[in-house]
Amino acid sequence: MPSITIENLTFSYPDCSSPALYEVNLTIEAGEFIVITGATGAGKSTLLRCINGVIPHFQPGTLQGNVWLDRATPSGRVPVARVSAPQLARFIGSVFDDPEGQIVSPIVEEEIAFGLENTGVDPAQMDDRIAKALADCGISHLRHRATSSLSGGQKQRVAIAAVLALAPKILVLDEPTSELDPDGTEAVLKVLFELNKNHGITIIIAEQKVTLLAPLCDRLVLLEKGRIALQGPPRKVFMHPYIFAKLGVELPAPARLAHALVQAGVLPPLDSPDAPPIPLTVEEAFTLSRQLL
Ligand SMILES: Nc1ncnc2c1ncn2[C@@H]1O[C@H](COP(=O)(O)OP(=O)(O)O)[C@@H](O)[C@H]1O
Ligand SMILES: [Mg+2]
Repeated sequence: MPSITIENLTFSYPDCSSPALYEVNLTIEAGEFIVITGATGAGKSTLLRCINGVIPHFQPGTLQGNVWLDRATPSGRVPVARVSAPQLARFIGSVFDDPEGQIVSPIVEEEIAFGLENTGVDPAQMDDRIAKALADCGISHLRHRATSSLSGGQKQRVAIAAVLALAPKILVLDEPTSELDPDGTEAVLKVLFELNKNHGITIIIAEQKVTLLAPLCDRLVLLEKGRIALQGPPRKVFMHPYIFAKLGVELPAPARLAHALVQAGVLPPLDSPDAPPIPLTVEEAFTLSRQLL
């Protein structure tokens, strides 16, 4: 059952000569973990804004085509443009690149309560909802901390917990780890992976660097100037290093190793039946190298 169906979506910002998205068609299944990648300006953020309703609810421009949300209302699928912004916020949670800018409360639990109060959650349920959202993000111990005392990775997990408390079916994240150090990045990606695997939440994440996400996601979508250039499971998409090079998106090192081994004549072409799968992690690359020695 698709969660989101994007049909012939073209969007232009006001006074821009060329569209930021051009005839995009994409179906995202419920429970999928999908990564949207591409160079700066490729249209990643614009695509996420069309999915979470920032376009057309808050950002003007010319929109053609449709983004359909499944089961957003009891009557079935509806276009994002026809669901009110508060109703959308309960269905789709959004997290951005800047954890500082998203957090408004001095204490962690107040930050989680803030969104719940705004949506009129029964005060008797409040405590459980806060505790569960914090636990799901692995930050129960931060409940009474001052938000100003947290690291970037902790803040980003608080921001995720705050949207998670609203029980969204879909989480949309725009470069959520770009401001974080490697530890913070790893902690946030672990939370996203577990929310996806254990709670079936659909994850849609825009990110320029796909190395850490490739082993976690079901599908990578490469955008090129507002169009989908390539999409599929990471091991399939990584078969096309020239497209990555052309688009200015870095191919992860384990996949580069596999292509180098083909060029050196050590491995058969990667699309031949006896070729090994493209490694996605350093561990997989190590195993492949050992098998060849
Ligand atoms: N608010 C805006 N107003 C006008 N043009 C914009 C706006 N946001 C993005 N754009 C333009 O739309 C195109 C896609 O941008 P964006 O979606 O931000 O790409 P990405 O997130 O991949 O870097 C770019 O050409 C960018 O300059
Ligand atoms: Mg962007």
